[in-house]
Amino acid sequence: MNGVKEKKKAGRATEVFKISFAAKSVNESFARSVVSAFASRLDPTVSELADLKTAVSEAVTNCIVHAYRDSRGKAEILLKGSVYADGRVVVEVKDHGCGIADVERAMQPLFTTDPAGERSGMGFTVMGAFCDGVKVRSRPGKGTTVVLTKRFGDCGA
Ligand SMILES: Nc1ncnc2c1ncn2[C@@H]1O[C@H](COP(=O)(O)OP(=O)(O)O)[C@@H](O)[C@H]1O
Ligand SMILES: [Mg+2]
Repeated sequence: MNGVKEKKKAGRATEVFKISFAAKSVNESFARSVVSAFASRLDPTVSELADLKTAVSEAVTNCIVHAYRDSRGKAEILLKGSVYADGRVVVEVKDHGCGIADVERAMQPLFTTDPAGERSGMGFTVMGAFCDGVKVRSRPGKGTTVVLTKRFGDCGA
């Protein structure tokens, strides 16, 4: 009985923030700083925090570069952060942009739709390498949500 209770406790977010901001490149560092400040309460190492910030940068950059490439008007990014009692941080990066038709393909290393060839196609790969979990939900024409999970205090065991 107690075990079930404990499990439930670990699964519940203890702290949450939600913000939205314009999908402009000037806000990429803003997003990194917000996540960094938020995640700091779990006392991560410098390198754990740097990993999370790198992954957030990639996800936010994708919203800025890809999500609203064909649209005019309000281009915004929603950022949500949660910390859990078991030391996990979960960051959601969401847009209401064009969406991704084939998520599996988009997540392959070196895949990019950038016609100018300025992108490396490694964004999702980097997110995967620097986080413990990356989930992508997307609907063409509706938008994309990237959910990044990072576990602090892991000693690789
Ligand atoms: N938020 C998003 N909205 C629409 N398309 C996206 C989004 N994020 C990623 N993509 C698509 O997935 C592809 C791969 O993304 P990524 O691995 O970050 O590589 P890159 O950004 O260098 O192209 C992008 O080229 C783009 O087609
Ligand atoms: Mg990218």
